[in-house]
Order: sequence, then structure tokens, then C-alpha cells
Amino acid sequence: MEDFIQGIPKAELHLHIEGSFEPELMFEIAKRNNITLDYDSIESLKKAYKFNNLQEFLDIYYTGAQVLIHEQDFFDLTWAYLTKVHSQNVVHVEVFFDPQTHTDRSVAFDVVINGIHKALEKAKAELGISYKLIMSYLRHLSEEAAFETLESSLPFKDWIDGVGLDSSEMGNPPSKFAKVFKASASHGYKLVAHAGEEGPAEYIWEALDLLKVVRIDHGNRCLDDEALVQRIVEQKIPLTLCPLSNVELKVIQKMEEHPVAEMLEKGILATIHSDDPAYFGGYMNENYYETAKALNLTEDQLMQLAINAFEASWLSPEEKGKHIAQVKDYFHSSKYSQKQVV
Ligand code: ADE
Ligand code: ZN
Repeated sequence: MEDFIQGIPKAELHLHIEGSFEPELMFEIAKRNNITLDYDSIESLKKAYKFNNLQEFLDIYYTGAQVLIHEQDFFDLTWAYLTKVHSQNVVHVEVFFDPQTHTDRSVAFDVVINGIHKALEKAKAELGISYKLIMSYLRHLSEEAAFETLESSLPFKDWIDGVGLDSSEMGNPPSKFAKVFKASASHGYKLVAHAGEEGPAEYIWEALDLLKVVRIDHGNRCLDDEALVQRIVEQKIPLTLCPLSNVELKVIQKMEEHPVAEMLEKGILATIHSDDPAYFGGYMNENYYETAKALNLTEDQLMQLAINAFEASWLSPEEKGKHIAQVKDYFHSSKYSQKQVV
């Protein structure tokens, strides 16, 4: 089944570039920047990757990002991610970056975005990966700080397709950022937000009604509210789910409890992604594989998930159509004969 999943043309829509920072590269960059990490080896760092909730993860994630200082560091981080997912047949990516994680340490906005942008362009030219870039506001910081970030982004707005909202969800509802989202839209940015990962269904309503997002990142908790599910189905609001992340951050206790099959059943435009693959034990293939195995997903369900990701992307209708046709061709011509993929 791994080979079968490997061959599916895939789109990644929920990926934090700082969350793709593999320990090996972190140590290498720390060394060349003369930074001493709190861990004496790659193994001891990896041992720390045990989380009881989102905040415990975020504390380590922000610490790891502190070794990124120069444009070359951001380039290397992004290029490593892109070559990795190229090997997994990911053909389109929509990547989040967290500028405030860096600008708050006096690393300039242009240093961050130049490095990321150069790697994305190189991947487009050399690997044929198309991309969009999403700037995420950190929700544990103030709306005023988000406004400053918006201002800093404007010279680069041709490189940025949308804005998002991430970091500590509980106690930081979408409503806190209503004004800056409105201002972001006025500059032409598309809008998404993390909601309903740990936070309640109410936060998803707020993201839709107050922030006016076109996609919800995670959105697991929508299942607590029938009227919300109906709204999400009727308006075809995509939910970018991250199964391995959900297990690692204890949003669910085990993969067998993952709601993706139930969501597909209800007609939700659900998609599967990797969130922070260096921390959660897998990239796109592993997310597809572990979910398919635990939930006994059928070929039809897997095809729907692959199609949904292109449907939910910000590609043009023509580009979506081309990728979706390739997904269908793959499933129809594949030698895989069993109905169940596991
Ligand atoms: N930043 C990186 N990963 C995140 C997640 N899963 N939830 C919220 N913020 C994040
Ligand atoms: Zn995320």
C-alpha cells in the first residue's frame, strides 16, 4: 500500500515551514551560526518530541526556529522540505510561514521571505512543484502586532498569496483578529485560519463569520455542532486535516479515532496534510498511509481525499482540472486491484 500511496499525485495545503525543520538540519545550521542547542545530540532532541497538547509542542517548535538567522538558513529549510516532498510525488504546496517568530528576534522580514521565496522558485523551475505562500499571524500575540506584520509584508505582497492564523488556540479566538483580517483582504490576500483544533466549534463559526476565511485549518471540532457541519458542507468550506499531528498533540487518542472518514461521509470537503512533519513523524505519504491503515480507507475514499486537496487549493480552475484528471487516471489505471487498500 505504501507504493500505491507514493504514486498518488498529491497537494499539500497545511504545512508550517518551521515545522519541517529536521533535527539533522537544525544541528547543522546551529553549528554554522555558533548557536548551542539545549540538547547535546540529535537523539536527545528527538526524545523531547513527546507532547501532551499543542502548547507543549509550540514551546519546542519556537525554540528550534531560533537557530534560523540568515537568508541561507531559510532557503536551506525550505529547499530541504521541497526536495523531500518531491520524492513523495507532491506536485503542489501551499506553505505557511510565521514571520513574527523571526522578526521578534530581530531577524528582518525580508531575510525570512527572500530565503523561502528563492527555494520555492527553484522548486518550481527544477522540480515542477507549483506553490502558494501563506503568511501566518501568531494568535498568542496582539492584533496590533499582526498589523505591524501586515505592514512589513506589503513590499512583498506579490510573493504572498494569503494570510493565516496559528499558534496557541485556546483563549485566542478568531474574533481577536477581525480587523487585521479585514485589512489583509483589502490588500488582496486570501484568508485562512486554524480553528477547532483544540478550540471549540464556536471558534470555527468565528473564523467563518468574522474573519471570512475560505478554508479552515484542522476544524476537527466542527463535528460537535450539526448546524456548523451543514454550513461547511453547503458552502464547500475545505477542512485541512492533519492526522499524525492530531495523534501527536492528543487532539485524538489514537489514529483509529480520526474523524476524516466520518467527515467524508457527511459530505465535508476534507483533505489530509502534514502540519509539522519533522515533529510529528511523517510527511504526506505517512499521513495518508497511517490514516488509511487505521481507518481501513477504501480506494474511493483515498481518491476523494486526493481530489479534494486540489479542489481546495488556490490553483486556477484549469490547473485544478489537470491535476484532478491525473489523480483519476492514476486510480483507474493502477494495478492495485483490491477494494480495500489495506
Ligand atoms: N503552528 C505550527 N503548527 C501548529 C498547529 N498544529 N496548530 C497551531 N499552530 C501551529
Ligand atoms: Zn497547522
